[in-house]
Formats: sequence, C-alpha cells, structure tokens
Amino acid sequence: MGAGKGMDKWILMTTARAPTNIAVIKYWGKRDETLILPLNENISVTLDLDHLSATTTVAEISLSGGRFQTCLREIRYRGEDFKDEKKGICIKKEDWQTLHVHIASFNNFPTAAGLASSAAGFACLVYSLAKLMNLKENCSQLSAIARQGSGSACRSLYGGFVKWTMGNELNGSDSLAVQLVDETHWDDIVIIIAVVSSRQKDTSSTSGMRDSVESSALLQYRAKTIVPKRMIQMDKAIKTRDFASFAKLTCADSNQFHAVCLDTVPPIFYLNNTSHRIINFMERWNHNEGTPQVAYTFDAGPNAVMLAPNRKVGALLLQRLLFYFPPPSGTEPTSYILGDTSLLEEAG
Ligand code: DP6
Repeated sequence: MGAGKGMDKWILMTTARAPTNIAVIKYWGKRDETLILPLNENISVTLDLDHLSATTTVAEISLSGGRFQTCLREIRYRGEDFKDEKKGICIKKEDWQTLHVHIASFNNFPTAAGLASSAAGFACLVYSLAKLMNLKENCSQLSAIARQGSGSACRSLYGGFVKWTMGNELNGSDSLAVQLVDETHWDDIVIIIAVVSSRQKDTSSTSGMRDSVESSALLQYRAKTIVPKRMIQMDKAIKTRDFASFAKLTCADSNQFHAVCLDTVPPIFYLNNTSHRIINFMERWNHNEGTPQVAYTFDAGPNAVMLAPNRKVGALLLQRLLFYFPPPSGTEPTSYILGDTSLLEEAG
C-alpha cells in the first residue's frame, strides 16, 4: 500500500493482481440470484499470474453497477482503523463509509475472448479494496465477498485447486472458496488455451444460467444427482494426482455443462465447429492410447482449455494443435496462450 501527499490532500493507494481460474467441475445455476449462491458445488484450477490476470488499483470514486457496489459496501463495512504517523494520516474505520474510491483495472488478456475475465477482475477488486481498508478477514472470508461480484471470482482468491462450497447460511456467509491443494501440489500439469474466437459471446454466463435454471430439467438432475458424486471423485483424483481420472471427469463435466446449455430454452450454443473438432481430436487421442493422456474443458464460449499431465505431453499436444489447427496465416501462434511459453521451443 502506498500513500502520497498532495498540497492539501493525501491519496491512499493499493494495487493488486489476481489470476483467473478455469472450472473443472462447472458452476452453472444459482439458487439465490442476489447473493450469488450456486446450485452445485464446483472446483477450479487457478492459472498463474503471468498469463491471465487482472490488475486493479484502488485509491480513495463511486462506480455505478450493482455488483461493484455490493462488493464495495461489504468491504467498507469491514474496514479497520488506519494510521500512518509519518505521513500524518489517520483514518477511523467509520471514515471508510464516506471516502471516495477511485478504481482502475486492466486485464493482461483480451476481455472479449471470454476467458473468465470477471473472475480475475472481481477477485482483484475485492483483494485490493481489502488491503486499502486494512481488513482483517482471511482469503476465504474475502472470497464470500468476491462471490457477490461474480460467482466464479470467489475461486480466484487462492492458487492451486479450489472448491466453492454450497454453504448453509441464508445470508451466504459460508458459501466460499476452500483451497483443496496449493499450486505446488500438482505443478507438472500444463495448461494450454486455444483462443478459437475472440468475439464477445452472445449470451452472458449470468443470463445463460438464469435461463437454464428456469427451463432445463437436465440442470436440476445434474446439480442434485451427478455433481455431488463427481465432487468426491474429483477431490480424490486431484489429491492423488490421478490424471486419468481427472481427465475423464473434467471432459465429462464440460460436455454435460454444454448439454445443459442445449437443454435450455432457448438453447445456448457456446461451442462452434472448431471447438467440436478439438473435442474430437482430443477424444481420439485418448481412445488410441487406451487411457486418457490429455483433458479439455470449455467455459461459456468456444475457446478450448486443454490440460496435459507433464511438459512432455504438453509439448506434444501443442505440436499437434499447431499441425491440425494452424493459426490463421499472418498471425503468430500466439493464439495459444501457454502456461509456459518455452514449450513452444520444445514443440518446434
Ligand atoms: C461456465 O461466474 O461468470 O465459467 O456468477 O453470474 O457472474 P456470475 O457467472 P460467472 O459464471 C461462470 C460460469 C462458467 C463455469 C465456472 O466458472 O464454474
């Protein structure tokens, strides 16, 4: 946190960076729209900060927009006293209620690509505001605030593999993120993202899941019967680093999520032809090997997130992708955002 002193006023400032996350058991559907409480538990993997992250600077603004305001209100209310004697700054906790806050935020990846930009954005906003206002809350408690900005944002407060719990409290205070394992537990996993289209999606996650909750019987069945079992299996696969089981569950869950989208009235089409071809390619690879070598998952858009158990398979995957899905001529193969760019050399 930095503090600058102008002629007649001071500015308190905090900058934070937060990564985005990719769900391997999807969150789709809310049981409470205002508090953003999920219909089913879900699990994600947090990406590293260097590749897909949001940076936010908050200083003493008023920003319109319901979800921003909710997060800001929740943090203001928990603000603590702040004192910097050298700079002559003394802020009492009640002062946070009225101080104006300026917020500047940017993503180091195209927002239009629909790569869970709201997750990184809200996680970052909440974290930087909490630092600014000197909050005592831990990451898990902060995740319950970030959740009210965007559901998936709660999982970006932690690295590694993260679970978003259902919670029992009516006010949502226990529907928060829990870290299953940290980023060192399974650090040989390689994640490759193929930007299939950078067009803004037609149906936002928020309105898409609202339509699914209202119309899809498959979503209800998934939330009650399928996901609870999958959560147990996925938790075990992650903790034991069992890639074959992890891959099976991840692909099945992505496909079921998109089946729910098709079961929605009106149907939602997030995947395009290229996405379908990528699924086919990955499935054939796994089938030929007899046991899953690679995994794929797609969020609310056509872009593919692919996972490999180690650098060797990751390099092979990249090499095959570049061969079967060559980036349009005139563009660098940067359409593939990598967990580790040196893979490109290895693959070349
Ligand atoms: C398909 O978190 O963007 O990426 O809570 O309405 O802001 P809101 O939705 P959001 O939905 C993410 C949906 C998903 C699956 C996931 O990340 O779990």
